[in-house]
Amino acid sequence: MDDMYQAPAIESDKAEINESSVALDKQSKMSEIDLQEGEKLYTIACASCHGANGSGDGLVVEKGGHARPNPYQNLNLEGILEVITNGKGVMGSHKSILDENERWQVANYVLHLQEQMK
Ligand code: HEC
Repeated sequence: MDDMYQAPAIESDKAEINESSVALDKQSKMSEIDLQEGEKLYTIACASCHGANGSGDGLVVEKGGHARPNPYQNLNLEGILEVITNGKGVMGSHKSILDENERWQVANYVLHLQEQMK
């Protein structure tokens, strides 16, 4: 909201021309921040089982004997959110650990990892 009260750019003509690219820029910066937040949360809450890159080789699996999750494949955002919120099989719900915004950020990061593995 504070953004709306920022002083207008000095070269207003130039600002107008660049308006859409500035908006795009802002959006990509926002998702970059979300991705960074997602990575932090993923490292804390998920990597112990799923591994840092999502291949299913976390420490708890390798050394702790926990059931091995499959590598992330062909998941969509909705499906990932569903598993984070309600759990699946031996994986418990993370609803009480991550709030809605955090679950969304982690889910996006999982999608990102999935892309990286392709
Ligand atoms: C205690 C270990 C453990 C933790 C922590 C954990 N998971 Fe899982 N996860 C599993 C296991 C095991 C499965 C496979 C469950 C099954 O299919 O029975 C799984 C399944 C999944 C799936 C479904 C994969 C598929 O192919 O259907 C997703 C998505 C997922 N986890 C995401 C996450 C995210 C995101 C986090 C962190 C918020 C997380 N998990 C934390 C062990 C864990």
